[in-house]
Amino acid sequence: MPSVLITGANRGLGFEFARQYLADAWQVYAACHDPNSASELRLLADASGGKVRIMALDVTDLASVKAAAAELDGQAIDLLLNNSGIIGAKGGQTIRNMDYEAWANVLDVLCGCRRRLSTMWHAASASLS
Ligand SMILES: NC(=O)c1ccc[n+]([C@@H]2O[C@H](COP(=O)([O-])OP(=O)(O)OC[C@H]3O[C@@H](n4cnc5c(N)ncnc54)[C@H](OP(=O)(O)O)[C@@H]3O)[C@@H](O)[C@H]2O)c1
Repeated sequence: MPSVLITGANRGLGFEFARQYLADAWQVYAACHDPNSASELRLLADASGGKVRIMALDVTDLASVKAAAAELDGQAIDLLLNNSGIIGAKGGQTIRNMDYEAWANVLDVLCGCRRRLSTMWHAASASLS
C-alpha cells in the first residue's frame, strides 16, 4: 500500500488531501501542529481503521521534525506533501513598507522546512538501505 505524509493536514487543502488519499486506499500520515485541536482530522482517523495516522509536527521546529521521524520508526514514505504554509502579514505591505520578519516567517514555513523535512525523509528511508 503506498503511503503519503501530509504536513498541515488538519484543515484546508491538507485535510482534503488526507481525505482523498484515504479514499484511494493509501496509508496517510497526517501531520499537524496540534493533534488535540484537529477535531475533523481525528474523526477521519477514527473512521479509517488505522489508515490515517495523526502525527504532531511543527515544520519550523527541527526537534519536532526529529520527534516525528522517530515516531515513523523507519517506516518508509512514498510521497511527501509539504502543504503547510502561512500567508504572513496581511495588508499594508509595499516595497517601501515591508514587515520583513513576517516575510521571513512565511519563507521559513514554505521553504526553510525543506531541509528539516529531509531529516525525516532520510530517517525513514535509511531503514531500506
Ligand atoms: N488555498 C489557496 O488558494 C492556495 C493558493 C496558493 C498556495 N496555497 C498553499 O497551499 C497550502 C495550503 O493552503 P490552504 O489554503 O489549505 O492553507 P490553510 O487553510 O491556511 O492551512 C495551512 C496549514 O498549514 C499549517 N501550518 C502552518 N504553519 C505550520 C507549521 N509551522 N508547522 C506545521 N503546520 C503548519 C496550518 O496549521 P494550523 O491549523 O495549526 O495553523 C494549516 O494546517 C499553503 O502552503 C498555501 O500557501 C494555497
